[in-house]
Amino acid sequence: MKILITGGGGREHALAVKLAENPAVKTIFCAPGNGATALMEKCRNIKAGSPAELADFALAEGVDLTVPGAEDLLVAGIADIFKEKKMKVFGPHKAAAMMEGSKSFAKDFMKKHGIRTAAYETFTDSEKAFEYLKTAPLPTVVKADGLAAGKGVIICQTREEAVKAVQDIMVDNCFGEAGRSVVIEEFLTGVEASILSVFDGRGITPFISAKDHKKIGEGEKGLNTGGMGVIAPNPFVTDEVFRDFRENIMVPTAAGLISENLIFPGIIFFGLMINEKGVYLLEYNLRMGDPETQAVLPLLKTDLLEIIEKAMGPGLSEEDLEWSGNCSCAVVLASGGYPLGYAKGYEISGIDKEDIVYISGAQLDGGKLLTSGGRVLTVVGLAPDAQSAKGEAYAIIDKIHFTDQYCRKDIGTIL
Ligand code: AMP
Ligand code: GLY
Repeated sequence: MKILITGGGGREHALAVKLAENPAVKTIFCAPGNGATALMEKCRNIKAGSPAELADFALAEGVDLTVPGAEDLLVAGIADIFKEKKMKVFGPHKAAAMMEGSKSFAKDFMKKHGIRTAAYETFTDSEKAFEYLKTAPLPTVVKADGLAAGKGVIICQTREEAVKAVQDIMVDNCFGEAGRSVVIEEFLTGVEASILSVFDGRGITPFISAKDHKKIGEGEKGLNTGGMGVIAPNPFVTDEVFRDFRENIMVPTAAGLISENLIFPGIIFFGLMINEKGVYLLEYNLRMGDPETQAVLPLLKTDLLEIIEKAMGPGLSEEDLEWSGNCSCAVVLASGGYPLGYAKGYEISGIDKEDIVYISGAQLDGGKLLTSGGRVLTVVGLAPDAQSAKGEAYAIIDKIHFTDQYCRKDIGTIL
């Protein structure tokens, strides 16, 4: 079997490692992959490309299954283009990818299907947005409607900040087309949780919960990042919270997708806020999270290809998934300066083959792994309890070195 994975981050490395475990998998093409997938026995890095270019490649190579890592190609219609050529993609078609690609589409879907979420208004006219902000409750959250590389959500404490956010997004077009409309929504307090799940077109099967740490600084301070570390399961997702999520978010999402004929086999990642009033849905992503994937997949005992094949065929149910029972702690090691400017090209040393280390921003150069991105790698500690998993992760970090490396020391510290 030949598989194509699109993307080149730690999430894609973790997907490649997990899919390579299946003996039927002979070749995994990674477009573009990274320095770690370049070294994997079954993997071959290829050039990244548009959906049409990748479809030509997949057809010529006889690829059996394509697993898109990030959202960009899904929103660009990779699943539609491959389907036209009778090739399989584990991911939504373009219309369903709008659940991630357009915040107003997602919010309208939530409202229509009774899915618990923050109150909101959508604006396509900046003057109307400015008018609304004169009396909107504070703090408020201004969101660019389209994809903005994780930067399109602005939490505003004052009216001035909110007016500036609308000005930047809608008038000055700081996110381009993504800011043609905005969603302005109620600010929710609470703790966040990520729940990855698989939709098989009939029902949703959840994975175990995870807790991302999005800010660059310890104690959740400073600038937003793609994610600096994850623990799984999320200690705030108690059985009661999970029941609430299932009843008020997961089940109505599946029913809504079916009733709107948005049917596909693929991932649904629920971004949640938990507070004393219950569980709220902040957003849908129609792909796995990074670094959630790196924390969750090592806990999964079931073969990932089998899960994908069931979701694309007879159907998947919760009984099909087996978890190790361990906790995981995934810590991101980043280039100093990230998420702003940072230097590249430093040699990474001290990665032990026995340890779980997923590479995201490093390339192979003359046999050496050199840093090439902001988030460079993610190490994962596994243990029967969260505290020991954290100890394992930081023990791995202690062995790894590159110039100017940075990580948060508090991943998994529950305040
Ligand atoms: P989103 O892309 O919608 O998940 O937003 C990115 C991040 O912004 C979330 O992970 C939250 O930390 C924060 N956020 C989004 N919406 C809200 C909200 N309504 N209230 C508070 N924080 C929010
Ligand atoms: N870690 C958050 C995301 O992948 O969107």
